[in-house]
Amino acid sequence: MIRLGVNVDHVATVRNARRAPYPDPAHAAMLAETAGAHNITAHLREDRRHINERDIKIIKEVITIPLNLEIASTSEMISFAKTIRPHAVTLVPEKREELTTEGGLNLESNKTTLERHIAELNEAGILVSLFVEADERVFETSLKLGAKAVEIHTGRFCEQIDSCRATEDQRKLVESMNQKSNFAHDLGLQVHFGHGLHYGNAHWLQKITHAEEANIGHAIVARSIYVGFDQAVKDMLSLLNDSKHLPN
Ligand code: PXP
Repeated sequence: MIRLGVNVDHVATVRNARRAPYPDPAHAAMLAETAGAHNITAHLREDRRHINERDIKIIKEVITIPLNLEIASTSEMISFAKTIRPHAVTLVPEKREELTTEGGLNLESNKTTLERHIAELNEAGILVSLFVEADERVFETSLKLGAKAVEIHTGRFCEQIDSCRATEDQRKLVESMNQKSNFAHDLGLQVHFGHGLHYGNAHWLQKITHAEEANIGHAIVARSIYVGFDQAVKDMLSLLNDSKHLPN
């Protein structure tokens, strides 16, 4: 079974567009939980463009499923995570000017800080996941730095899958990702996936033997406009776990 982490950032994006009190990402988190989501993900960005500290505190209060807090590896964010004590922290790279998280972490150039922050989070009993590109050397470094999980950035993978014309080409891409995922799993890392997954490509994760978790935001929030949040979450859970969605 692939766990679904519902990322509620863009519920806050809609709220903030009008500086209104609604829609509330905590409300969406509760709906996601009742619909069967396995965890809730939210990204507290440096510029607070969507989720803010208050949202995180309320979400943590109102859900009973695990919270996966996404943050950059800065002292401010690590302190905040230690006060919130989420189930997991996913460390992500962050650039102010980017539209969304555009690539995986550069572990080599941030080794010392990452190692210190990961140790602090490990000591606090928080599971640490690193948002990285699908690369064997990067997985090895993640392990050495003390992470227990990697979240593979699926941005480019999704773009490639989406642009394939033949199912056979899609299968090849998925098999290549499967091998990378096996490598990370064999090192002893949990393997998560996220970014760019939607209702036309998420079913392929079923073909990845050790895919444990998918964190999906934009597609679910977008679909909820048409079918409601409950149905949007249920549809994604089905795509991730029901083999009827796989091509013959
Ligand atoms: N996982 C991580 C670490 C992210 O930063 C994001 C947002 O970019 C997502 C998952 C969700 O991506 P999307 O909104 O494309 O589903």
